[in-house]
Amino acid sequence: MSPAISSMQPISRPPLEGKSIVLGVTGSIAAYKAADIASKLVQAGAFVDVIMTTSAMEFVGTTTFEALTHRPVTTSLWDANSELSIDHVALALHADCVLIAPATANTLAKLAMGITDDPLTATVLATEAPVIVAPAMDADMFASPPTRRNVEMLVGDGVLVAGPDSGRLASGLVGKGRLVDTAALIGLVRQAVGRHGDYRGRHVIVSAGGTRQPIDPVRYISNRSTGKMGYAIAEAARDRGAIVTLVSASSLPDPAGVTVVKASTVEEMRDAIVLESSDADLLIMAAAISDFTPANVSDHKIKKQGSGEMTLDLKKVEDFMPLAHGRNLVKVAFAAETNDLEMNARAKATPKGAAFVVANDVSEPGSGFGTDTNRVTFVDAEGIAEQQPLMYKLDVGHAILDRALSLLSDR
Ligand SMILES: Cc1cc2nc3c(=O)[nH]c(=O)nc-3n(C[C@H](O)[C@H](O)[C@H](O)COP(=O)(O)O)c2cc1C
Repeated sequence: MSPAISSMQPISRPPLEGKSIVLGVTGSIAAYKAADIASKLVQAGAFVDVIMTTSAMEFVGTTTFEALTHRPVTTSLWDANSELSIDHVALALHADCVLIAPATANTLAKLAMGITDDPLTATVLATEAPVIVAPAMDADMFASPPTRRNVEMLVGDGVLVAGPDSGRLASGLVGKGRLVDTAALIGLVRQAVGRHGDYRGRHVIVSAGGTRQPIDPVRYISNRSTGKMGYAIAEAARDRGAIVTLVSASSLPDPAGVTVVKASTVEEMRDAIVLESSDADLLIMAAAISDFTPANVSDHKIKKQGSGEMTLDLKKVEDFMPLAHGRNLVKVAFAAETNDLEMNARAKATPKGAAFVVANDVSEPGSGFGTDTNRVTFVDAEGIAEQQPLMYKLDVGHAILDRALSLLSDR
């Protein structure tokens, strides 16, 4: 990469920086996927200690994990080179989170019963860190009464059971037994690690994506919003302990640990946000809401006309942000502009009842729709503007949350 290009990229703090994650890998056919999980945890800034069961080593070797994590892999309680041979609960004590992915039916059973005959089960029993298990097995194994009982017991013990997902299984059958995908597992780890964060217990609503206003059953008018900004804010809030509702008109995959309410049109988004906001602390309106909507929606596909021209009548959409209410609800608006950024943002704060507006020039390179970065300006109700540097959208999310935190009332 040329220096000119690399200097364009802002510096970002990885979401799991400095955190210690124990990754347990057990003897499932999905064990190969644990290499990707280990890699993504390391990329997210975590120190990753892998513990493998004896069966897991039949599927994938220790070298893979050692190379990915740059740390030794623990496979036995009796390994003289392992940290655990000196202190068998050492990993349990310094872990910020234990993730077992994939988790076999056998290991789930041992965990439910408190059996500790290998380093992984011993670590889980000894840790005070949150434990996440991601079962992966044949659908019949997962549906069997003993596995169901064991899962229920683990949930009762406070273990977070992630999945399994439904889909094609290694046996060739289709059913519930697939390992939850890596991105979702990393999201759950981030949520678990941040559970005592400064947004702990706060209800945050974020809207995201561009609304689609129907013209007829097959066509709509919309805008270029992808939802990336709103999704990044939702993840940032989740990572700080918030209870997050994401009202989404986007087709991005659902972030883990967040309640997603799908809303395609302005009307659906309005209804969801007004309903959700009654008990919320913070509403961040990152969605690009249509300003205009077809005056008439045809109930059948509009056919080509003979003259070759067609006129679409549009009417203005009423801003519903003032309708969002709730005791002590703090509102943050977004303004996507192509000119007169600060002036346009200033005009928006008061009518919307927003504590501040996040304004961005969507015509600037590296900013706005579809990009991973954004350069925003915060404009408060008094019109005072504070420009922010180019940041990754996750960091923009954190900056918005930092600013909003001092405005939230005590509960
Ligand atoms: C080819 C093969 C694939 C297997 N896949 C799974 C699986 O996906 N899930 C599971 O629970 N068990 C699976 N098993 C069975 C486990 O490996 C076995 O129950 C083992 O005792 C698990 O040990 P562990 O929990 O200590 O890793 C598989 C076994 C074989 C031979």
